[in-house]
Amino acid sequence: DTIDAGIFAQLGLSIYDNGYLNTAVCRSSISYIDGDKGILRYRGYEIEDLAKHSSFLEVSYLLIFGDLPTREQLQVWETRVMRHTFIHENLVEYLKSFRYDAHPMGMVTSALSAMSTFHPEANTALQGEHIYEDETMVNKQIFRCLGKVPTLAACAYRHRIGRPYNTPSNELGYTENFLYMLDRLSENNYLPNAKLARALDVIFILHADHELNCSTAAMRQMTSTGVDPFICLSGAAAALYGPSHGGANEAALKMLEEIGSVENIPSFIEDVKAKKRRLMGFGHRVYKSYDPRAKILKNISEEVFAIMGRNNLIDIAVELERIALSDEYFIKRNLYPNVDFYSGIIYKAMGFPVCLDAKKPFPGFPTPFPTDFFPVLFCIARTSGWLAHWHEQLQNPIPIFRPKQAYEGPEPRKYVDISQRT
Ligand code: ACO
Repeated sequence: DTIDAGIFAQLGLSIYDNGYLNTAVCRSSISYIDGDKGILRYRGYEIEDLAKHSSFLEVSYLLIFGDLPTREQLQVWETRVMRHTFIHENLVEYLKSFRYDAHPMGMVTSALSAMSTFHPEANTALQGEHIYEDETMVNKQIFRCLGKVPTLAACAYRHRIGRPYNTPSNELGYTENFLYMLDRLSENNYLPNAKLARALDVIFILHADHELNCSTAAMRQMTSTGVDPFICLSGAAAALYGPSHGGANEAALKMLEEIGSVENIPSFIEDVKAKKRRLMGFGHRVYKSYDPRAKILKNISEEVFAIMGRNNLIDIAVELERIALSDEYFIKRNLYPNVDFYSGIIYKAMGFPVCLDAKKPFPGFPTPFPTDFFPVLFCIARTSGWLAHWHEQLQNPIPIFRPKQAYEGPEPRKYVDISQRT
């Protein structure tokens, strides 16, 4: 339930709400979460149904335009997005100019803001009071952003492993093309394994939107200034870059690696209960029951292992979950696996943290490769949610974000000349 803040304004009051924990800053029809019941819906559809029946691009259409597309609409949509996968040659040069070991998320964040300079009409078209009148222009930016983000991500990946960038292949599906550009998980003729491509596509669906998380709030905040969507996406991606937001799956993976074997779980759990450690990938600010995305990811992990070979991390994770969910400490605090508990294991199984050929690393490159590509995968998926919020906000403009602060600095004081300061 919400109280309209207008009433506080009339009374000359404001609320101190550290970190906006209890403040709704917009109305939205995009995603719905019931944290107590473990429900996540996009535009009214259960996440489980979308993960089972839909594709990432279809879900992106749903998130952005509000309804599932007809067959014809989907075909046009997919064609349009895939036609925008190529990036300007100068942007390629820009990416190439980064240090050989540049963090891929830094590269993607920078390239997103650089895109603003390659498509300046997006800025001028979206300014002024009538920002939503030119729908064609708005849609074009959506095609561009969705189409180009995987290409930027793939360039950052190829850069990190010191190999030439690949050009997109538009005959492939969205996620298959992404894997093709990475040159990962390939079967014959460099075509990605269809089952693994589908697994990643579902992971993208699960990460596509999650109401007003920190990066989406950043997207909306920047949108309120009227700046173009590339800059907004760059700001959102920068927020996602933070380890507390896009990096928890890496922390969960490291924790499982550190535990090392099933026998070490009980002593690890004791450390958690003694508050010496946190069980990473467990607990959530909103979900006070099982995160529905974690359940789906657990099943996907089995599918991926069936193809890529099982590693013992999944056994540790499953046993850790079993022990934790039957322990009073975790039950009392409503601590369940969240989306990050299984995603890192899946990415590792797919080979994202390691060099293409881990046995023959390139000179000067760390082995195995760090897990810094994880947030980039998150960024590709979340781009569709960010764009949905951008689109919704263009239709229902809100005033420029200007939260209040509670000032607690010094009282007014006289300026003291530097010669007299002690
Ligand atoms: N391991 C052990 N204990 C935990 C954990 C955990 N992962 N999470 C919460 N607790 C305990 C706290 O110690 C606290 O115990 P107390 O009442 O005895 O003091 C109680 O549960 C409540 O904890 P809060 O920190 O108040 O819960 P909050 O909802 O603020 O925290 C958070 C949510 C930050 C996600 C937390 O659960 C956590 O740190 N989890 C591990 C990191 C993680 O997996 N983050 C990814 C979240 S999903 C995402 O961002 C995409």
